[in-house]
Amino acid sequence: MEIVILPSAAEVGVLAARKIARVVRDKPDAVLGLATGSSPLAIYAALAEQTRDGSLDVSRVSAFALDEYVGIPAEHPESYAAVIAREVTGPLHLDPAGVQVPDGRAVDLEAAGERYEEAIRAAGGVDLQILGIGANGHVGFNEPTSSFASRTRIKTLTERTRSDNARFFDSADDVPTHCLTQGLGTIMDARELLLVAQGPAKAAAVAAAVEGPVTSMCPASILQHHRRATIMVDEDAAARL
Ligand code: GLP
Repeated sequence: MEIVILPSAAEVGVLAARKIARVVRDKPDAVLGLATGSSPLAIYAALAEQTRDGSLDVSRVSAFALDEYVGIPAEHPESYAAVIAREVTGPLHLDPAGVQVPDGRAVDLEAAGERYEEAIRAAGGVDLQILGIGANGHVGFNEPTSSFASRTRIKTLTERTRSDNARFFDSADDVPTHCLTQGLGTIMDARELLLVAQGPAKAAAVAAAVEGPVTSMCPASILQHHRRATIMVDEDAAARL
C-alpha cells in the first residue's frame, strides 16, 4: 500500500487525476472503475480539464461504476446513473455506450448483479478503480461485515451511511434503504486501486483502513492485501495516521 499525504484536498484531486491520466496514456482503451460521492469530484474536474485542452484522449476509455441505489428512478438527480452522467461521462466526453452503472431498477437484482460481473469480465477487467471511503470504512456500498469474497449484489445501507448521504436528498427519509454494489472481491480484482479521502470526518476510517487489522468491520482494510493500492489523502484525513 502506498500512502500519499498532500497539503490540501485540491492537491489530492490533481495528483490522483495525474495518476489516472498516466494509466490512460499507457493504455488508451483502459477500463476505469468510477466512484460516486464527493471525494472523487476534484479528480473528475481535473480530468475534464485535460480532455478539454486536448492533453488527454479518453475516446476509447470505458468505465464501470461501483454502485447504484435501489428504488429510485434513473432520472432522479441523485441516482448514481445520473451522477455519473453529470460528473463524469458528460464533462469528460466519454462514450456513454462504454459507461455502465449497476441496474438498481432491475426486477431481478441478483441477476442484475451477475450480469454486471459478466460485463466487467467481458471488458477484460478494471485497470484502475477509483474509490472513496465511508466514515464507517465502507468502499462502494460494502458496509461493515461485508464478505471479502463478495461480488456485485444487493446490500442494505446502514443508518450511518443513510444519514451521511441525506445531504443529497430532500429529506433523510428519501435516502434509499438498499443498493446494488460491486463486492469487495470484485473491487480487489481491479489491477490497481486508488482510494482518495479528504477532511477530518474521514480520519478515523483512513487510520483503521491503513493501520488497523484487516477486518470486515472496516471493509477498506482489505486494500492492505492488494498488490497495487494507493491511498491519497489530505492532511486532515491523515490526522490519525
Ligand atoms: C458513498 C458511496 C461511496 C463513497 C462513500 C463516501 O455513499 N457509495 O462509493 O466512496 O459513500 O462518500 P463521500 O465521498 O461523499 O464522502
